[in-house]
Amino acid sequence: MSHTCRIELDGKSYDFPTVEGTENERGIDITTLRDRTGYITLDEGYGNTGSCTSAITYIDGDKGILRYRGIPIEQLAEKASFIETAWLVIWGRLPTAEELQRFRTRLTANEMLHESLRNNFEGFPPNAHPMAILSAMINAMSCYEPDMMDIEDDTTLERAAARIISKVRTIAAASYKMSIGQPLMYPHPEYSYCKNFLHMMFSLPYGEYEPDPEIIHALSLFLILHADHEQNCSTSTVRMVASSGANMFASCAAGVCALWGPLHGGANVAVIEMLEFISQSGMKVSDYVAKVKEKDSKLRLMGFGHRVYKNFDPRSKILKAAADKMLARLNIQDPLLEIAGELEDVALNDPYFVERKLYPNVDFYSGIILRAMGIPLNMFTVMFAIGRMPGWIANWKEIHDNPKARLNRPRQIYIGNTIQDYVPIDQR
Ligand code: SDX
Repeated sequence: MSHTCRIELDGKSYDFPTVEGTENERGIDITTLRDRTGYITLDEGYGNTGSCTSAITYIDGDKGILRYRGIPIEQLAEKASFIETAWLVIWGRLPTAEELQRFRTRLTANEMLHESLRNNFEGFPPNAHPMAILSAMINAMSCYEPDMMDIEDDTTLERAAARIISKVRTIAAASYKMSIGQPLMYPHPEYSYCKNFLHMMFSLPYGEYEPDPEIIHALSLFLILHADHEQNCSTSTVRMVASSGANMFASCAAGVCALWGPLHGGANVAVIEMLEFISQSGMKVSDYVAKVKEKDSKLRLMGFGHRVYKNFDPRSKILKAAADKMLARLNIQDPLLEIAGELEDVALNDPYFVERKLYPNVDFYSGIILRAMGIPLNMFTVMFAIGRMPGWIANWKEIHDNPKARLNRPRQIYIGNTIQDYVPIDQR
């Protein structure tokens, strides 16, 4: 149902239409604001600004709701595979058995890297950050796919999506092997998506790694929970790049860069560093929380807080339960899990966090699971990126398929120098 929003400016009234989504979210359509009033809006951090309409993911931050294409995350976590979830997120519905088999076949056919592409790894120092490698190699991959620069049909899109989703595993595993001086492992075509990744990460030429089914399940769950999340920082970056008409590879490579930051995807690394600091320093959890609360403290409780979730992050609840179950099943004692639980208890009962509606987010427990899998800390955000690839591809597709899509070009309020003349250097 459309309403009208009236704005009074400089003694004049202006009416603007409103828009309402399928879940009753409402927005004021200000596409004519500047032409009619000369004003723009200003919203640092975009906390109140919708950049697009989208049909991919729905979040209700107050109720802790997350749905991919209408299906609750709890059901997908329990019943779906990551590849089914990827198809759902990209194409808007669960795949038929035939489509799922076809997509799996495409993923298998794309597990290997072009031998010349493998040589790129020689150019990176052993301590190169795997997020830098991932972003670079996604763009490098596109140099071998000239027919996928300009995607004009569903088959090419499916092939391109399969290439990226499949090869990011191989790139991630190769960057790990390179960093520890071990030979790259070729994928096994008969392995599942997750089992093959773990194989490429941890097998050796003389020793096959046989992952515990619990670990394979936990990895699949981790990837499903990270598959998409509305217009977060990195997805908005993908859309920004896609809006210029850039190809899918370039857009996803840009998403990797945005995800890297510690306030976003890099938080899963920062959480473990925080827990390790508390554990190794012997500091009491309550003392650490007190430091976070100090007025001019730069410390943040990493893995806590969210721009949208103001009650709880449903993914955090699922990951906490999965971490408890996985460590118990594998008989792993991780002191960081205990510290994380204590931090959560202290924070959830502390007015500072309650007043600011700060709760554990997806990154708070995910690192515990990755640690239990043996994933090195500097690859945690790469794992987040592998999970988020379907969401980035879906958002790229949503812009690409929209005939009304425009180049994203925000405005600004200029606060710099007013006009001044050039001063010759001998007079400066
Ligand atoms: C992800 O957007 C998505 O969907 C992202 C994501 C996805 O799936 O793509 O969900 C993944 O990025 C999750 C978030 C991971 N980041 C972290 O865990 C880093 C720690 N959290 C924060 O830095 C922070 O909570 C953000 C960045 C997540 C959100 O910050 P906002 O919405 O910009 O809030 P803010 O910085 O304006 O903070 C509001 C108040 C401030 O205090 P006051 O100035 O009012 O006194 O809350 C405080 C902040 O200092 N605050 C925190 C805090 N987060 C906010 N204080 C201590 N610890 C924290 N974690």
